[in-house]
Amino acid sequence: MKVLVSDSLAEDGIKRLKSALDVDVITNLSPEELIVKIKDYDALVIRSGTKVTADVIKAADRLKVIGRAGVGIDNVDVEAATKKGIIVLNTPGGNTISAAEHTIAMMLALARNIPQANAALHKGEWNRKKYTGVEFFNKTLGIVGLGRVGAEVATRMKSFGMQIIAYDPFVTEERAKQMGLKLADLQTVLREGDFITVHTPLTNETRNLIDDDEFNIMKPSVRIVNCARGGIINEAALARAVAEGKIAGAAVDVFTKEPPTGNPLLEQEKIITTPHLGASTTEAQVNVAVAVADQILTIANGGLPTNAINMPAISPETLAVMGPYMKLAEKMGSLAGQLVGSGFDGLELTYGVTIAEKDIRPVTISAIMGLLGCLLGGVSVNFVNAQRTLKEMGIKLLEGKTDATNGYSNTITLKLTKKGEMTVVQGTVSGNKETRIVQLNQYHTYIPTEGDMVIAVIEDKPNIIGPCCVVLGEGNINIGSMHVGRIAEGKPQLMVLSVDQMASEDIMKKLVSVPGVTSAKMVEL
Ligand code: NAD
Ligand code: MLT
Repeated sequence: MKVLVSDSLAEDGIKRLKSALDVDVITNLSPEELIVKIKDYDALVIRSGTKVTADVIKAADRLKVIGRAGVGIDNVDVEAATKKGIIVLNTPGGNTISAAEHTIAMMLALARNIPQANAALHKGEWNRKKYTGVEFFNKTLGIVGLGRVGAEVATRMKSFGMQIIAYDPFVTEERAKQMGLKLADLQTVLREGDFITVHTPLTNETRNLIDDDEFNIMKPSVRIVNCARGGIINEAALARAVAEGKIAGAAVDVFTKEPPTGNPLLEQEKIITTPHLGASTTEAQVNVAVAVADQILTIANGGLPTNAINMPAISPETLAVMGPYMKLAEKMGSLAGQLVGSGFDGLELTYGVTIAEKDIRPVTISAIMGLLGCLLGGVSVNFVNAQRTLKEMGIKLLEGKTDATNGYSNTITLKLTKKGEMTVVQGTVSGNKETRIVQLNQYHTYIPTEGDMVIAVIEDKPNIIGPCCVVLGEGNINIGSMHVGRIAEGKPQLMVLSVDQMASEDIMKKLVSVPGVTSAKMVEL
């Protein structure tokens, strides 16, 4: 794997990456330079500086992963990355404490006018009255967004004797109760807060969440903090609200455009600012650099990252249990895809009850990956974009569970329909984690899920299997194992021959023309 680190990253992370991979650190690339450079890399490591636009992703022919050392992924076109099958991952948690502490530092600085007083004193001004502040004690703190950072801010601010109310539509009353605070709607939080701090991601829903109308309902004494993302509070409206005395002041660490040239927030004394320093501590930078490096190394070693944001998270524990089923499902998808070919219109996956109780999402994705991978090419379909690709193809996916065991304690059944005709593949994982296909259409089988195979339907008559083997022998194709099964005497039989190499089209044509052979297909699992 070739890795490009395009924003500054703590040395601990770079060292870790360099221990196993080929790494270039090139920061301050222009968008045009990044578009040219990205072609040569399999992994891109960024912080908030690099903008990974649709144009960058379009040019990124080798790219498999974008690793964000930090939380916010608003500088990555995740949609475009997902479509192209590129994993986008981040490192939540690594800088939470630093961001919470910076928020509180900003709140204290705002309450006590510390930056303004410091600047005045440096200029030789001694003015104690002008910089009189306010206490936190017995005041109300309104938190918008009660995730990792919001929760850490809440915990700490309680020790100042503040009442805390929070707005977060995704947080339950129970969780709020555990944290010892009250949930309220946004309007109440804005109306009642003496201090307000925002900690949501920047999304289409949270962009301009606080605008002119919202400032109109706040207390004139309110002080507001944004250490989350520029744009959650409309910058022009905030500048207006402070200038018109609708609110007492603001502290801002993040901006819609960084660096914030010509930004109205920089023009007012009552708005204190820092240059996106929330995560800028030695500890947080090491945490996020190491966390991003470790996930990229995991991917380079064929594993799954812990914090991919565009594919389901799979814990090592889940992977240990579901890994064999994922492998089985991928092979079953591939087998069905090779037998049916393109043009299918429905996919159904039915899980035996013992598997259905577990997290089957990765297993379903694996089946789709196998199915589409064999038809569209393994590179274009992966864990990230498999489900989306299936949907875009207009293919209906059904998932279900069944009590029927077919004699096995756990099974996955895949049904692929094409113009009303159904192909059925059923598989199982044995106690020692071996994967087997146990049913192919109406035939019971017990065939492995690895290697090259000839799958043929033959008449139930003597002297058919022998001539088939002769055809393969004459083509220098060695047969490793054979499975023959029938439903009932005189009915067509299924013959599966595991072979040491793929038979050519020519050999397959000869095989199909053996008298008594109804159909024969070469598959590669
Ligand atoms: P998080 O995902 O843990 O928490 C975000 C919370 O916002 C969640 O609880 C979510 O339910 C809530 N939310 C989402 N949409 C909402 C809406 N419309 N209204 C109200 N709440 C909503 O994220 P986090 O790690 O706590 O980070 C919070 C923010 O802080 C992010 O924007 C992140 O990028 C930013 N951050 C900034 C710095 C910095 O350097 N300044 C450092 C770390 C994090
Ligand atoms: C984040 O989202 O993690 C922070 O904004 C910090 C950063 O950008 O590095």
